[in-house]
Amino acid sequence: MRRIGVVATAAAIGLALTACSGGGDGGGDGGEGGGDGGTDVEVFTWWAAGSELTGLEALEAVFAEQHPDYTFVNGAVAGGAGSAAKDLLQTRLQAGDPPDTFQAHAGAELTDYIAAGQLEDVSDLYTEFGLTDVFPQDLIDLLTVDGSIYSVPSNIHRSNMVWANPTVLESAGIDPAAVPADIDAWIADLEAVQATGVTPLSVATTWTQVNLLETVLMADLGAEAYIGLWNGETDWAGADVTTALEHFETLMSFTNTDRDGLDWPEATQMVIDGTAAYNVMGDWAVAAFEEQGIERGTGFVDFPVPGSDGQFGFLADSFTLPVGAPNPDGATAWLETVGSLEGQVAFNQAKGSIPARTDADPADFSSYQQSAIESYASDAIVPSLAHGAAAPIAVSNAISDATSKFTTGGSDLATYQEELAAAVG
Ligand code: GAL
Repeated sequence: MRRIGVVATAAAIGLALTACSGGGDGGGDGGEGGGDGGTDVEVFTWWAAGSELTGLEALEAVFAEQHPDYTFVNGAVAGGAGSAAKDLLQTRLQAGDPPDTFQAHAGAELTDYIAAGQLEDVSDLYTEFGLTDVFPQDLIDLLTVDGSIYSVPSNIHRSNMVWANPTVLESAGIDPAAVPADIDAWIADLEAVQATGVTPLSVATTWTQVNLLETVLMADLGAEAYIGLWNGETDWAGADVTTALEHFETLMSFTNTDRDGLDWPEATQMVIDGTAAYNVMGDWAVAAFEEQGIERGTGFVDFPVPGSDGQFGFLADSFTLPVGAPNPDGATAWLETVGSLEGQVAFNQAKGSIPARTDADPADFSSYQQSAIESYASDAIVPSLAHGAAAPIAVSNAISDATSKFTTGGSDLATYQEELAAAVG
C-alpha cells in the first residue's frame, strides 16, 4: 500500500518522450566560474518572500560556501505554489531564454517539461556526486523517464495538514488535543468556532482552495480510491466524489470572504494571529509558525486533515538543468549543493520540509518535521494535485479553473463535478 501512490501515478502518466537532448555537462573541469557561462547562476523558484525566501537563502549560503566562484542570482517570481512563476517560466522556455536552473515538482509536472524536451538528463551527476543511493528509490522513479534522471530533489513536503490555534479552539470549547475523526466531526467543531465570531477556517486564493480540495478527497475516498482518481480507476462522477465535493462546499462556507485576494502566508497568519481557528496548508506552513517563535503544542497544533490520517499527501521540489541554460557549469554546481547533505539540512531546517536524502539525522529537525519523517516512512504515499505530483500542468490548470468558478459562485456542485471529470478526462 505504502508506495502505491507514486508508483501508480508514474505509471498513469504513460509518458511518450519526445526527443530530448541527452547528456548533461558533467561540469567540474578545472576552476569553477571560468566557463563560457560566466559566474552568474540564475536560480528560478517561487520562493520569493517570508519563510520560503529564508529557506532559499539557507541554500544560497551553502552554495556560496561550496562554490565561492559562482554568484547566486535570485530569479524568484512571487506567488505560492508557482501560481505566477510557472506561466512565466513556460514563456521563457518557449522563447529560448531559460534560467540556469528552475524549481519543478517531482511527478507529473516534471514529466511535462521532460516531454517537451526542455530538460537535460542529469543522470551523470548522480554518479558524479554520489546521489544514486541517497534518495528513496520511489522518489528517483518520479524523476526518471526511460532510464534517465532529470532533476535533483531538494525536499519532500506534506500537503494534507491542518494548522490550528489552540487558544481559539479552547474559547470555542474544543479540546485542542482532540483530533476530529472525519470531516463531519470537524464540521461540528467549525460550527462551534463560528458561534464565537472567529473565522473557523482560513483559506487564500485558488491554488490553496485546490490544496484544500485534494485533502478532502484523500479524507473521504481513502488512499486507494484517491490514487484511482489519477490512474483512471476511480470514477470522478461517482457518489463518493459527490460526497467529498459537498464536504468541500461546506468547508468553504466557513472560510474568510477576502480569500481570493490572499496568498498562503496571509491565510496561515490568520491562525497565528488568532483571527482564524484552522488553516489547511502544506507543511511549509510550519516554517511560518517557527519563524515567528510560535511553539508547537502551546502556540499551534497540527494534525492530518480529519479522515486522512495514515496518508502522506506527497510532493517534492527538485531542481533542473534546462536545455540551453546559459551557464550549465554554474547550474551543475547548484545541483551539487542541492543534493548535498549540508545543503539539504540547511534548506529543510528553514523550509519546514523533510530532506529528500535518507541519510540526514532526524534529530537535526524540529518536532513537527520529525513527525513528518515518521509519517513519510510509514503512511500511504498519495500524490498532491495542487503541487504537481498527481497530474500534468494542463489537468491541474483545468481543475483550478473549475474550482475557482465553483467557489466564486459561477457553477453549482453538479456542474463542478462534471467539469472536474472532464478536466481529468
Ligand atoms: C509548493 C512548493 C513548496 C512551497 C509551496 C508554497 O508548490 O512545493 O515548496 O513553496 O508551494 O509556495
